[in-house]
Amino acid sequence: MRLIDRYRAVRARTVALAAPLSPEDQMVQSMPDASPTKWHLAHTTWFFETFVLAPAVPDHPPADAGYGFLFNSYYEGVGRRIERGRRGQLSRPSLAEVHAYRRQVDDAVEDWLASERGDSRDRAGLATLVLGLHHEQQHQELLLTDVKHGLGLQPGRPAYRADVPNATLTAAPQRQAAAGPTRFRAFEEGIVSIGHDGGGFAFDNEGPRHRAFLQAFELSERPVTCREYLAFMKDDGYARAELWLSEGWRHVQLEGWRAPLYWERRDGEWMTYTLDGLRPVGLDEPVAHVSHFEADAFARWAGARLPTEQEWERAAADGPVTGHFADSDRFHPGSATSGMFGDVWQWTASAYGPYPGFRAPAGALGEYNGKFMSSQMVLRGGSCLTPAGHLRATYRNFFPPEARWQMSGIRLARDA
Ligand SMILES: [Fe+2]
Repeated sequence: MRLIDRYRAVRARTVALAAPLSPEDQMVQSMPDASPTKWHLAHTTWFFETFVLAPAVPDHPPADAGYGFLFNSYYEGVGRRIERGRRGQLSRPSLAEVHAYRRQVDDAVEDWLASERGDSRDRAGLATLVLGLHHEQQHQELLLTDVKHGLGLQPGRPAYRADVPNATLTAAPQRQAAAGPTRFRAFEEGIVSIGHDGGGFAFDNEGPRHRAFLQAFELSERPVTCREYLAFMKDDGYARAELWLSEGWRHVQLEGWRAPLYWERRDGEWMTYTLDGLRPVGLDEPVAHVSHFEADAFARWAGARLPTEQEWERAAADGPVTGHFADSDRFHPGSATSGMFGDVWQWTASAYGPYPGFRAPAGALGEYNGKFMSSQMVLRGGSCLTPAGHLRATYRNFFPPEARWQMSGIRLARDA
């Protein structure tokens, strides 16, 4: 696909994801970690304006001198910004003005792309444009997780969309194919290559490629299901301190965790909020919306552990990047099947840190990933909310261990 067509497709997808929401719902900010839809629409546009247009087209006037303060997320190198938890206070600019901002920047980016020819192409500018497309895809997923949090905690549990595009969505969970017992795949000990090899796009945190030694291990062929997680709950998993890391146990006490986020009991049945509204928990679907601490406690209860990110990558490296992603428009996990990718991100036992030899690039874009390498855990594999084509075996997602609003689940590992 030509770059200009890719640009148009990614930008149009973001607008399409926001379209089912009323302007009021696009203002909702349910917590500092979650941003309003309107802010995602504007921030992704600011990224192109700031990092692509400003250097490539110096005489391009900024759409609005105040937008940098409103829509800069965390780049210290490009100036001050509004506090993250106050993004929901921005009734101005209006949603219509944000869409006008998108169109204005899109026109300028497309003019620039059309003006570049042959050897005169601005390689650095084009590389940043590609980074901007992957950045926008990340925000497409965040838009959905943030909308889910904003709507799913409202008493009425309103659905994100009224019309469900895929008939399989409404299939009763009990009619779904039952997941068989967990099978483990065995891996011999040895030295493996970890990280991106530099061919094609990758985020800076995926490199440098390097070698690592792995002890022999076993990895579950599919993620943990809701049925399996319910067994942990029924066995008092949330009440047994010996299963929990100390920090996780503190969260259980402070926040009253008794089930995954969005689960609630109604008339004796476990229900879960989905982007299509409240529905019975699908027993053979991968459990989602658990924290790293819950994943770790479940693994201990199950006589297993979480995989390291190197083990995960070793298992994923020799297979295709196929799975259930957001292009299905289902936005909810399907029945758990064997495979490394899709449905739910999988918490690993690995703290998010730099690979050997990693140096954040110079300049503001060096702040993209490197400065977050503390106090977070790595997740792998992508989810039903991740855009198809966005994932790689080397892709490293990261969130604080207590985070539950992402589509995060569990895959088990064992020592051989
Ligand atoms: Fe961003």
